[in-house]
Amino acid sequence: MKRVLVATGGGDCPGLNAVIRAIVKRAAQEKDWEVIGSVQSFDGILREPTEIMILDDKAVAGIHVDGGTIIGTTNKGGPFAWPIKNNDGSWDYVDRSDEMIRKLQYMGVDAVISIGGDGSQRISQALFEKGLNIIGVPKTIDNDLSATDFTFGFQTAVHTATEAVDKLVTTAASHNRVLVLEVMGRNAGWIALNAAIAGGAEVCLIPEIPYDLEAVAKKLQSRYNSKGKGNAIVVIAEGAMPKGGTLLSEKSDEIGYENLRLGGVARKLVNDLKAIGFEADMRETVLGHLQRGGSPIAYDRILATQFGVKAFEMVLEGKFGEMAAYRHPDIISVPFKDAIDNPKLVDPTCDLVKTAKGVGIGFGD
Ligand code: F6P
Repeated sequence: MKRVLVATGGGDCPGLNAVIRAIVKRAAQEKDWEVIGSVQSFDGILREPTEIMILDDKAVAGIHVDGGTIIGTTNKGGPFAWPIKNNDGSWDYVDRSDEMIRKLQYMGVDAVISIGGDGSQRISQALFEKGLNIIGVPKTIDNDLSATDFTFGFQTAVHTATEAVDKLVTTAASHNRVLVLEVMGRNAGWIALNAAIAGGAEVCLIPEIPYDLEAVAKKLQSRYNSKGKGNAIVVIAEGAMPKGGTLLSEKSDEIGYENLRLGGVARKLVNDLKAIGFEADMRETVLGHLQRGGSPIAYDRILATQFGVKAFEMVLEGKFGEMAAYRHPDIISVPFKDAIDNPKLVDPTCDLVKTAKGVGIGFGD
């Protein structure tokens, strides 16, 4: 019997379970393969005792509908930076990658499928360079992985953000308010841009187009008449910043968490607009992890299923060191390096931005 180990790493996103199910179903068509899952990314392999799950037809039945991941995930630590507590309470990080690869060999694992975003695929590349038979599947609501047109989970996040805009529209109209919706995306404005168009926002602020505060105020003011009647919706990406400004972020004190935590841009925008004399009532909503939770929409279930089937077929073909990717209309495989070298950001001159501007959405530029 041959064994493929599946791990889900980084922040969760809708569609992870659909990928796992597709791998298991496709593997079941080959008589000599079994699938196991490492609990909480590679932590399950590194823990004593080892924490793995048998992923068979029964374990994955119906899970394509569910959000989250049945094998758990983490965006802390990992095989190259495993946190160890010193006697004095401080923490050090040790490289346990060789130990992990030896353990996988001992467990009879022939191939690994790592489902994750840029951080996870960097780890995949490093493990591949050490000789591990590893394949990647691109995941993130941020849609910021180059080499793939879309990551699964992104469209569900856009759908959730669009529903939020729809709801904010009615309350903004009732109160003659400006309502500001802060969405995720890290340094990419994909969720904000798509939700702004789908929801019909008046202003969209993204990291790729630093905004001029006066231009934003002018656009919002144009939505009000001389009696102060009017309303507007602003969708702002968590990584957005004013011209000459800096990223609003803080270092987390969680052990092993290396990412900067973004957030607070909606509150800052409201305060800054007040400070320059913009008079309408304003409120902010931070959508947060609602964008990562819940059932994937049909689009993401399908894309995730395509990635799962492809990933297992890449195992059969021995395409290690590569990641499944979507290049419309095909599902292809690309070297990890192509996926992780540069993030995929919104090009300010792209057609989607032109579309948004064409329907009057202001970017504050
Ligand atoms: O990368 C996905 C993402 O949801 C980002 O959009 C966001 O900035 C970050 O993860 C939040 O991470 P955490 O769940 O660790 O707070």
